[in-house]
Amino acid sequence: MKLLVIGAGGREHAIAWKLAQSPRVSRVYVAPGNAGIALEEGVSNVALTEHAALIEFAKRERIAFTVVGPEAPLAAGIVDAFQAAGLSIFGPSQRAAQLESSKQYAKEFMVRHRIPTAQFQSFTDAKSAHAYIEQHGAPIVIKADGLAAGKGVFVATDLREAHAAVDHVLVDHALGGAGARIVVEEFLEGEEASFIALVDGEHALALATSQDHKRLADGDQGPNTGGMGAYSPAPVVTPEIHARVLREVIQPAVAGLKQEGTPFVGFLYAGLMISERRIKVLEFNCRLGDPETQPIMMRLKSDLSVLIEHALKGTLHEAEAQWDTHAALGVVMAAHGYPDAPRQGDAITGLPPAGDDYHVFHSGTAAQDGKVVVSGGRVLCVTALGHNVKMAQRRAYEIAEQIRFPGMQMRRDIGYRAVQAPAARGPHSA
Ligand code: AMP
Ligand code: GLY
Repeated sequence: MKLLVIGAGGREHAIAWKLAQSPRVSRVYVAPGNAGIALEEGVSNVALTEHAALIEFAKRERIAFTVVGPEAPLAAGIVDAFQAAGLSIFGPSQRAAQLESSKQYAKEFMVRHRIPTAQFQSFTDAKSAHAYIEQHGAPIVIKADGLAAGKGVFVATDLREAHAAVDHVLVDHALGGAGARIVVEEFLEGEEASFIALVDGEHALALATSQDHKRLADGDQGPNTGGMGAYSPAPVVTPEIHARVLREVIQPAVAGLKQEGTPFVGFLYAGLMISERRIKVLEFNCRLGDPETQPIMMRLKSDLSVLIEHALKGTLHEAEAQWDTHAALGVVMAAHGYPDAPRQGDAITGLPPAGDDYHVFHSGTAAQDGKVVVSGGRVLCVTALGHNVKMAQRRAYEIAEQIRFPGMQMRRDIGYRAVQAPAARGPHSA
């Protein structure tokens, strides 16, 4: 069968790479894809982004099903449009995708279904937001309601920063319509983890756990980014925490969405803050994470096309996912000037040949005059397997050191929390 993946990043590269390994899959098309995706065996880029053109393509090529990578097409209703055209597509409807596309909707949903999350209040008026912040003090977190490509969250350590964030979003309209409303929420301490499940509207199948590194610089310093590296599994998600996340977060969310008439089909991603025995949801995403997908797909032994078919048929309770007991770790190589003003066009050299224990997933790359050049903020995610996180880390950096482009930015400490944790010393299963 032929499949279509929507997107152009490292996440979509990893999804397409994994799908193409299935003996049932003859070709995976990625729209619009990138330079690295085009090099994969059994995978082709398709230069389309408009929904109508994608629908026409899926019909013409008799695509068995389409998988949506990023949030923007989901929030724009791509799933509704494909379904109206009689096509099979894996992802939530526009209404279900509000769980990610509106922070206020997500927070109110969590309150309705008693899903643990930070205390909050939402505002459209700056004056009331300033007053609320004075009353609650810092640290405090200010979030734009809408999708802002990772630029909508301000973790303010003092009152001055908090007031400035309110003005930036509500008064200066720096984020446009995405910032017409803000959510101001309690600052939470702890360790973050990404918990992603396949969902079929009723049942959830947890994928392997992972941890992202959101800040640009080592030691979690510098500005927030889309994510500078990730590894799987995340030892902070102990078996006990894992069971509680399913029971207290994932299952109530899936049941709540169904009950409210917006059943969720797709990848449901809970961003968690874990501290001792306390679990709180920072955000829901209605898609896989990037870069979390890269290490997760490296570890997935099951046929992803079979798992997605189960989810499309509503039979996920009959499915099981097998995971490599090795850990996987991905290091992001980002462009000069990322995240504010990534520079494009720098030539990338030293890309290694294919290897058994690593894979270089491409994000912002393009082919130009026979060369691979930088064409986006996050450029590559060098992902490797190892007996534990420490060994996966060593291997990923060994490969990354061979790759060069002018102005390249890369964290040197991806995986540091797991490497410090006692659990990192042995192999893991989930
Ligand atoms: P979000 O997009 O809501 O996950 O926020 C982006 C990042 O901001 C998260 O990954 C956290 O690192 C941080 N963050 C968000 N909300 C909070 C919070 N309530 N307390 C502390 N940090 C937060
Ligand atoms: N890596 C975080 C995200 O995909 O939202």
